[in-house]
Amino acid sequence: MNLSVTLFGITFKNPVWVASGTFGYGLEAMEIYDISKIGAVVTKGVSLRPREGNEPPRIVETPCGMLNSIGLQNPGVEGFLRDIYPRIKDVDTHFIVNVFGETEEEYVEVCRSLEDAEKVVAYELNVSCPNVKRGGIAFGHDPVSLGSLVEKVKGSTRKPVLVKLSPNVTDITEFARVCVESGADGLVLINTVLGMRINLKKERPDLSTKMGGLSGPAILPIAVRMVWEVYERFGRAVPIIGVGGITTHEDALEHIYAGASAVQVGTANFYDPYAPLKVIEGIKSFMKEKGVMDFSVLVGRAHRMDIKS
Ligand SMILES: Cc1cc2nc3c(=O)[nH]c(=O)nc-3n(C[C@H](O)[C@H](O)[C@H](O)COP(=O)(O)O)c2cc1C
Repeated sequence: MNLSVTLFGITFKNPVWVASGTFGYGLEAMEIYDISKIGAVVTKGVSLRPREGNEPPRIVETPCGMLNSIGLQNPGVEGFLRDIYPRIKDVDTHFIVNVFGETEEEYVEVCRSLEDAEKVVAYELNVSCPNVKRGGIAFGHDPVSLGSLVEKVKGSTRKPVLVKLSPNVTDITEFARVCVESGADGLVLINTVLGMRINLKKERPDLSTKMGGLSGPAILPIAVRMVWEVYERFGRAVPIIGVGGITTHEDALEHIYAGASAVQVGTANFYDPYAPLKVIEGIKSFMKEKGVMDFSVLVGRAHRMDIKS
């Protein structure tokens, strides 16, 4: 049975990755299990300079999920290369760095700084964080700025560039189109959904930033819908990485049947760090049961009109 996938010229041992910001840099999970079993680790967002993130409270639970407004706390790209990279460089799986900037130049600088870090096989541009005042979403919600950013980054790196899109737009396929036309190597759908909770005891919003990003099982149907829409428009012309609400292998398979060539497990890592491994095993058992030898035949399968239920 072949679970490996080759996307943008890189072969991943399986299509189950972990989502940015929900697995740190893999260092904590490494203490409890062999993280090389995961198809790829997408790091917490890395910016040019270190960031403290937002004031607490910056996490609140919701029915079937959580709201966060971490605000991209990270040690900056130099700190990443100095303190974190040496500890991950011998792990036998791929790392993808999630990149954040306030300007185009900052995105380019971060990617350039990582060019010689061999373990980093690709960049995932975060243009969709709803919790920061400058940068990120300013690109993700404006097609012209987004196209320009993707072109600039593509023109300054040898590594594949994935773009992580925001679900907080009217038509995600238009933002996907801009990325494809600007040379993006892959699309990652979706980042968190903008939301808010009011604390009735305090009579004010729960989060210090008032609003934050909703993640977890609550957003699975939104993410699956968006993966479906983008696949419907572009097919396999550009690989889609599905993320949003994946807790079980069935959730992952919904993304895959909708058109995702790989998936990322996010919030589930917080309450079950073994979730990505369970998803891998679940997909294997599913394929065995169905007599499917090659994972790639499952991608976009729900679009096929010739399959009878
Ligand atoms: C606490 C937290 C921090 C996150 N940090 C980042 C980040 O730094 N960069 C990014 O692109 N996405 C970030 N995300 C978004 C996730 O990678 C993912 O897109 C989102 O949570 C939806 O997937 P899920 O429902 O499986 O969690 C973060 C999510 C959470 C919950």
